Amino acid sequence: MNDILSPPVSRAGLHEEPTANTVLQEIKATVGTATVENPKMQARNVDVHYGEKQAIFDVSLDIGNNEVVAMIGPSGCGKSTFLRCLNRMNDSIPSCRVSGEMSLDGEDLYGPDLDPVLLRARVGMVFQKPNPFAKSIYDNVAYGPRIHGLAGNRGELDEIVTESLKRAGLFDEVKDRLDAPGTGLSGGQQQRLCIARTIAVSPEVILMDEPCSALDPIATARIEELIDELRQNYAIAIVTHSMQQAARVSQRTAYFHLGKLVEVNDTNSVFTNPQHELTENYITGRFG
Ligand SMILES: Nc1ncnc2c1ncn2[C@@H]1O[C@H](COP(=O)(O)OP(=O)(O)OP(=O)(O)O)[C@@H](O)[C@H]1O
Ligand SMILES: [Mg+2]
Repeated sequence: MNDILSPPVSRAGLHEEPTANTVLQEIKATVGTATVENPKMQARNVDVHYGEKQAIFDVSLDIGNNEVVAMIGPSGCGKSTFLRCLNRMNDSIPSCRVSGEMSLDGEDLYGPDLDPVLLRARVGMVFQKPNPFAKSIYDNVAYGPRIHGLAGNRGELDEIVTESLKRAGLFDEVKDRLDAPGTGLSGGQQQRLCIARTIAVSPEVILMDEPCSALDPIATARIEELIDELRQNYAIAIVTHSMQQAARVSQRTAYFHLGKLVEVNDTNSVFTNPQHELTENYITGRFG
């Protein structure tokens, strides 16, 4: 355990509060194990800048098959930025520059041959605020399969829509009103609709950025169950502000602080025996 948060002693012998800059300089290499035996996605030495401002510093992290990786840390520490790099959502932000290596099944995410539209079908994303299209429930789920030409005829499309809604745990609630607008569902149902829309294109990885923060505890519990089921077939990375949620749904937890990956380990160790003082402070509620 290092002591980077102990107040430095000034020349006059007085204690001074550490500034963000002194904390940042003191966060050296990531503590714990950032790699897995069976990686689906790999990030190596990733830096991200928005204009002059650096938001991610030298982050290396694997996301394994059939596992949920939780990303936690104080607001503004770069969780969403890092997550968005994994399916090149940051491409749409002109000031954003990503360097380092990122790959999916060993294929360079930022290489010249990779089509970002196809990448986003392979690496799907679910956002904080459910964002169904202004279309029917059916058409929300059918949207991706249609643009990617995944169904040969209407019967196949019906099957994909039904199956996706079932896997998202929504089918029974909406089977009699598939033509009704997706925006007319409750918040929790909308979020499950967005998950159905994501899985309809058979992604390999699902990224979730605080998917439950707009939901009540019952809807949250339903999504958490679903995440656990989806893990059987996908690699999942989830950003959450709820440490209970991270502890419940993930197998590995990554703690970010000021754009650096401070610690990553199996979830149980991170929550019961954090190795870094910053992690410990965060999970015990001393800041963040
Ligand atoms: N589009 C953008 N343009 C400029 N700076 C940005 C942009 N998006 C994020 N940032 C900056 O990058 C840093 C990391 O932001 P990010 O949104 O990734 O943090 P976060 O950990 O997801 O925070 P929160 O928990 O509040 O969602 C912050 O300093 C933020 O101000
Ligand atoms: Mg965020």
